[in-house]
Order: sequence, then C-alpha cells, then structure tokens
Amino acid sequence: MHIITPLQLCTALTVFTSVIISSFAIDTPATKDSTIFRSTVSCPSCPDRNCYKCTLGHDATLEANTGGLAYIRSLIAFQLPVQAASVTACIVQFPAFTKQIQAPVNVTAAQALSSDWDENTVTGENAPDSGDIFTEIEVPAYANIGAIDVTPACQGADEDGNFSIFLGTRFGRIEIWSKDSGNPAILHITSSA
Ligand SMILES: *[C@@H]1O[C@H](CO)[C@@H](O)[C@H](O)[C@H]1NC(C)=O
Ligand SMILES: *[C@@H]1O[C@H](CO)[C@@H](O)[C@H](O)[C@H]1NC(C)=O
Repeated sequence: MHIITPLQLCTALTVFTSVIISSFAIDTPATKDSTIFRSTVSCPSCPDRNCYKCTLGHDATLEANTGGLAYIRSLIAFQLPVQAASVTACIVQFPAFTKQIQAPVNVTAAQALSSDWDENTVTGENAPDSGDIFTEIEVPAYANIGAIDVTPACQGADEDGNFSIFLGTRFGRIEIWSKDSGNPAILHITSSA
C-alpha cells in the first residue's frame, strides 16, 4: 500500500492551488454598440433618406439582417481589463431578442479591423471594415443567442485592450436589446494572469 507522506500531500496541494490561481474569470460589459445599416432602400428618418448615413449608436436595440436589399450588422466594442496576451478564452453573452424568432437563424461573428469609432457618428459609410467571419452559430426558433466564442477577437485586441466585433446573420433578421437600453452584451474572459 502506498502511504502519502505529509510532504507529498503538501506538494500536491501546492500544485493544485497554483492551477486554480493561475486561471481566473472576469466579466466586462460592452463599452459601445451600434447597428450598422447598409441598404439601398430609402430610409426616411436618415440624412438624405440614405440608409448608409444613419447614426443608430444610441438606439435601444441592435439589429442584424441579411437578405433582400439589406446588409445590416451590429458593431459591438469591448475593452479587456487584462493583457490580451494573458487571455485564454472569451465568450460573449448577448441580451435577449426583442421579439422571439419564429425560424432558426444563423448568427455570425467577425472582428472589426478597428475599434476607433464613435456611437455618435458611426454609419454604414464610415464603419470599420470587417475581418473574415470566425464563428457561426445556429440559433433555434424561439431560443435566444447562446454564448458566442470570440477568443480570436479578444486575442487580437489593440494596445489598449479594445476590440470590436460585427454580429451578422447568414440570412434573416434578428434584433436584440442594446447597451443604451441598459442591457449591454457581457464578455466573459478567462485569463492566465
Ligand atoms: C448554420 O450554422 C450551422 C452551424 O455552424 C451549419 O452547420 C449550417 O450549415 C448553417 N446553415 C446555413 C443555412 O448556413
Ligand atoms: C479604448 O476604449 C476606451 C473605452 O471605450 C477609450 O476610452 C479609449 O480611448 C480606447 N483606446 C483606443 C486606442 O481606441
């Protein structure tokens, strides 16, 4: 029979404890968000009735819609409270849909190439460009968006820890509550330091 000595026990506990404290979780809400409206239809409430000139950063909801003449996405920014290099995983939890979806919708996420945009002025004309879609999830009818893994975007944060993601749909329309409604998306970070 193998007897565990106090020294072995102590060593085991030390290793165990260091595994626990070397990884920790931290939550942070979105710092800004806006719908980026791109559509060739007429938008009566926008400057020159031009949908590309709409500023929607202070709306209570965020929209995404691909289909017909519209390519509408939501742009959402976060600021990491830890060094990007120490991030091992990041997931985003989005707020509920404003109205239940009646059919499944595929939701996509891509990293915006810059976080240098302002809720007061961002439009379809001046929004940052988008990187490639790095994840796509299927949201079943009558469900909400589950957690989305945005680890690549977190790890690509700028020197201030800022990064932005575009939330879109493969096809179909979704609308969720925004930061301005008091329901910001929440970033759950797992960090090693
Ligand atoms: C929706 O996303 C799922 C999961 O990524 C994928 O398997 C499926 O092919 C997608 N459906 C469409 C219509 O793009
Ligand atoms: C990063 O985000 C914070 C909070 O939104 C902002 O104050 C700061 O200016 C941003 N830094 C850069 C380099 O964009």
